[in-house]
Amino acid sequence: MKKLFITAVLSACCGAGALAMTEAQIDSCVNDLVGRMTLDEKIGQLNQRSGFGYVPEMAGLVRTGGVGSILNETDPEVVNKLQREAVENSRLHIPLVFARDVIHGFKTIFPIPLGQAASWNPALVEEGSRIAADEASSVGIRWTFSPMVDVARDPRWGRMAEGYGEDTYLTAVMGVAAVKGYQGDDLSAPNTMAACAKHFAAYGASESGRDYNTTWIPELQLHETYLPPFKAAADAGAATFMCSFNDINGVPSSGNKVLLRDILRDSWGFDGVMVSDWGSIDQMIPHGFSHDLREAARQGIEAGVDIDMESYAYCSHLRDLVEKGEVKEADLDPLVANVLRLKYRLGLFENPYVDMTTASRFYAPASLDAARRAVEESAILLSNSGILPIKNSKVSKIAVIGPMADAAYDQAGTWSFDLEKDRCVTPLAALREMYGKESVIYVPGLEHSRDNSTKGFAAAVEAARNADVVVYFGGEEAVLSGEAHCRVDLSLPGAQSALLDELKSAGKPVVLVIQAGRSLAIAHEAETADATVFCFHGGTMTGPALANLISGKANFSGRCPVSFPRMSGQVPIYYNRKNTGRPAQDMTLINDIPLEAGQTSTGCTSYYLDAGDGPLFPFGYGLSYTTFSYSEPKLSASQIDTDGSLNVSCTVTNTGEVEGSEVAQLYIRDHVGSLVRPVRELRGFEKVTLKPGESREVTFTLNPDDLAFFIAPGRKIVEPGEFSVWVSPNSAEGNPVKFNVVENSLTLAK
Ligand code: NOJ
Repeated sequence: MKKLFITAVLSACCGAGALAMTEAQIDSCVNDLVGRMTLDEKIGQLNQRSGFGYVPEMAGLVRTGGVGSILNETDPEVVNKLQREAVENSRLHIPLVFARDVIHGFKTIFPIPLGQAASWNPALVEEGSRIAADEASSVGIRWTFSPMVDVARDPRWGRMAEGYGEDTYLTAVMGVAAVKGYQGDDLSAPNTMAACAKHFAAYGASESGRDYNTTWIPELQLHETYLPPFKAAADAGAATFMCSFNDINGVPSSGNKVLLRDILRDSWGFDGVMVSDWGSIDQMIPHGFSHDLREAARQGIEAGVDIDMESYAYCSHLRDLVEKGEVKEADLDPLVANVLRLKYRLGLFENPYVDMTTASRFYAPASLDAARRAVEESAILLSNSGILPIKNSKVSKIAVIGPMADAAYDQAGTWSFDLEKDRCVTPLAALREMYGKESVIYVPGLEHSRDNSTKGFAAAVEAARNADVVVYFGGEEAVLSGEAHCRVDLSLPGAQSALLDELKSAGKPVVLVIQAGRSLAIAHEAETADATVFCFHGGTMTGPALANLISGKANFSGRCPVSFPRMSGQVPIYYNRKNTGRPAQDMTLINDIPLEAGQTSTGCTSYYLDAGDGPLFPFGYGLSYTTFSYSEPKLSASQIDTDGSLNVSCTVTNTGEVEGSEVAQLYIRDHVGSLVRPVRELRGFEKVTLKPGESREVTFTLNPDDLAFFIAPGRKIVEPGEFSVWVSPNSAEGNPVKFNVVENSLTLAK
């Protein structure tokens, strides 16, 4: 009876009904509600707490309206009990929203986002995010802190794992796909989650790849490299944003009015929620930006951080700040309105509770199938002498070696909070299933990826001798990447490289399969192995997917979402660099320099004595069991106006023996600019699946925005001049075709 009464009250004042509310209805409800709230109720909506069960302290806080959102509560019974306190027992009946870091799956774990980016297939990213939302919302989580769209060019940074790699365009495309997947077509449907584009902004540029570190970024580069994926997420309707831990040019994001208000709200028109990162308002004190938590609270409000996640700054100090006139109560209203708007958009006023009859929808067969396909499409074949695929008919014994062959927990990767490792199928289990248990000899050789002991080597080498082929599963444990898990040494940890050398000396072909949370410096290992596969931590279905790929049941189509360095000292490394005035040529490497060689700079160029120039594997690179050819790109015109568009077409043909998928990549170069432009910039891509002998024409359109760049803050223009365009299999190959851009005749006439 009580419930019916409350629903009736809510329906009357909020226009709630069976259909999703219009934005106009939402605005009117939000304004009405804000007008009826006390100062403490307003502060409560801006306060986010981490859950700790249905305990009196939390229940009381909810009942008094002292908290508006809760993260990390995943028990649907507890979610419903707390929600009941909010909806039935608080004065204004405002529902809570429950949040969680659902980063690459909830129970069914998909590849880490960097792996998803390696698929170059946004549809897969969308599908995975949709499944994650369906699973997580089934326990009441309606807000995920994902996608992370921080461009990352330094693999030392452990959080490279959580994003979509080094490229602005690829990151934007994948981020948008994730937003669409989480939020679905109708955010108010109970099986969606609000997405959160994070970490605003430039967190991926943390100096020297050390987490939380400072960033110093010229304004034009901020706009050109780091902000576009966030703009794309905002345009795609991302319901929330999270600000970042780092300072940018001296101003921590949580107190950064220019970023959070001028750019995000005023220029981009974002009307969603801005949540702080965990404790990031408080952290403005050690940053040296705030004297104390009280000042930090005021700075957070002034910057436009709507929700304080776990700094206790707003709940401790806002009342006093308002009473003393340092913050106007009216200035809180728009922030409160943002939070309420999110709750209306999520349909929480109409549908606050988890439906326990359909709760905990995990591991549907179709979800596991999608997770397997995601790994298949994201694993990258880096080299292959021809030993892969290992056909059943070719071998009678496979030696499976290495610390990641049967590492259910570690194959899931970072941010797998809700992992049930028993649901992970390891490569060992899948290979036994595929080839038959008797055909697989398993000797780990090393107990874990950091193991430095050589005591298991002899047994591993013995196994190698007794087999036709060795498949070595190595890489990094999950905990070696992710937040605050950065490394300076990008080589394989522990004694893995030494073990590989020993295995190779057994005289059998060695297939190296790496699972990791970042690109690694594996020049020696890739040279030693007869084939190299790189699989960013793949999640639940890593094993079946890798078994399908290794056996040839599936074909590789993953492509590098980051450049792979030859040596750690090359980082940050990325393909769309500037050419320099002395681009690398005639390289004399360290061992070729004569003793007491004359010291001159004349004729010297830009490269390293020990690593030369360029990556080990370039951005966009990856092999397949088939081969592809590209026709010369055809342009719709050889000359366009500065406001014109250009179509670029190219025919891709499968020239091999088996079906395969190729990622045709569109790059441009603006040869001479009033500011120097990169040697290549990705502007489009398309993944096409072709049967042997089949051809497909791919067509891209280059619009003015694709050719333009920032010449001053807020001023993006296309400059007339010569451009090159490539449609190529990666960022280092292909033949450019030139076209000219001329000043628009109308502009000239002015
Ligand atoms: C800190 C991380 O930086 C952020 O990405 C995450 O969403 C929050 N903690 C909440 O767990």
